[in-house]
Amino acid sequence: MFTASYIVAASQLFAFALGAPLIGASPKQARSLVARTAYKVFGGDGTPAQGWPQESEWKSFEDLWSANVATTLSSCSQFNMENNSQEESDNIKKAIQDVSGASGVKPEFLLAIVMQESKGCVRAPTTNYGFDNPGLMQSFQGTHSCNPDGNGVVPCPYDTIKGMLEDGAGLNGDVGLKEGLAQAGGDDVSKFYKASRIYNSGSIAGDGNLNGGIATHCYATDVANRLIGWTDADSHDCDENTIGSVGGGSANSAPAGPSDGGETTTPADTTTTPPPAGGDSAPTGPTAEGASGTCTKWYAVKAGDGCASTGIDFATLQSLNTSLDANCSNLQAGVSYCIAA
Ligand SMILES: *[C@@H]1O[C@H](CO)[C@@H](O)[C@H](O)[C@H]1NC(C)=O
Ligand SMILES: *[C@@H]1O[C@H](CO)[C@@H](O)[C@H](O)[C@H]1NC(C)=O
Ligand SMILES: *[C@@H]1O[C@H](CO)[C@@H](O)[C@H](O)[C@H]1NC(C)=O
Repeated sequence: MFTASYIVAASQLFAFALGAPLIGASPKQARSLVARTAYKVFGGDGTPAQGWPQESEWKSFEDLWSANVATTLSSCSQFNMENNSQEESDNIKKAIQDVSGASGVKPEFLLAIVMQESKGCVRAPTTNYGFDNPGLMQSFQGTHSCNPDGNGVVPCPYDTIKGMLEDGAGLNGDVGLKEGLAQAGGDDVSKFYKASRIYNSGSIAGDGNLNGGIATHCYATDVANRLIGWTDADSHDCDENTIGSVGGGSANSAPAGPSDGGETTTPADTTTTPPPAGGDSAPTGPTAEGASGTCTKWYAVKAGDGCASTGIDFATLQSLNTSLDANCSNLQAGVSYCIAA
């Protein structure tokens, strides 16, 4: 049984892996009562003291739903699946409200995570970085999906939609938003931003920077923006490569990009714990897919680690473990990676 502190599974995929903002801003949406909200980069630890939004700055659930519903209705084209019907999108709204009642997780927060993970496509496929992450919330080891095997279920039944919300909220297991909020602790609004980081990567980097560490660096600042009304139709000013080094109090200022002509830096390798001296002579757990067949030294990844925790440079690490993606976003806790061959 895996617990939240054990995993580093990268559960988020769609918001950036599948690229471009949806071109879903219909004239109707543009005329919505909900004012369009410009993206702000929030750096640091999630507290209002470091510039993150107070709960009083969040839009209401109804307003957020109005701002996002058009996206949910067109979001399955990113997966080559039939788009949500109006009824399916209506059922997402209803399920969010039902599951919020059952779990105590605020509906605004559930919606923000749904949009971050799948843009509200009921037929979002299951991703797997070692564990299944199915459905609307790409929940860790979730069991509900309307696309279990590459074939979209049409229509997606209400009970399945609700099940996907329950999986993500943490009602069906011990890893979900409910548990993330409990793990984040405290009473202030930063617990939501911290819980979003935990939901995405299983832990918060050692220095408390919510955009550092592994997985999707812009995740927590994206979620904060969604709560104050930013939608995928609006521009996105968070740079995955630099956000991890943006400190607190940086709201409203985008981080500097990589310098012209220079190599893109390997992100997130600065917020990690040092490896045990020399590594292990044998793997202490499951080995990384594609780990070198002639490996002589191993490093067992722990929750909170980044690629730099292995103690070797990223290019070498990747050459010895070819399953690692270019940004270290699929590093798995509990898995041993080859660090010398
Ligand atoms: C991580 O790298 C892969 C390519 O290896 C890319 O497809 C993906 O979009 C990247 N993810 C993020 C969050 O940058
Ligand atoms: C889904 O919606 C998008 C945006 O409106 C559209 O471009 C696409 O063709 C739709 N897909 C299907 C299968 O109808
Ligand atoms: C690293 O892992 C990949 C599988 O992801 C494997 O194919 C490759 O052979 C491994 N690298 C080495 C040097 O063995």
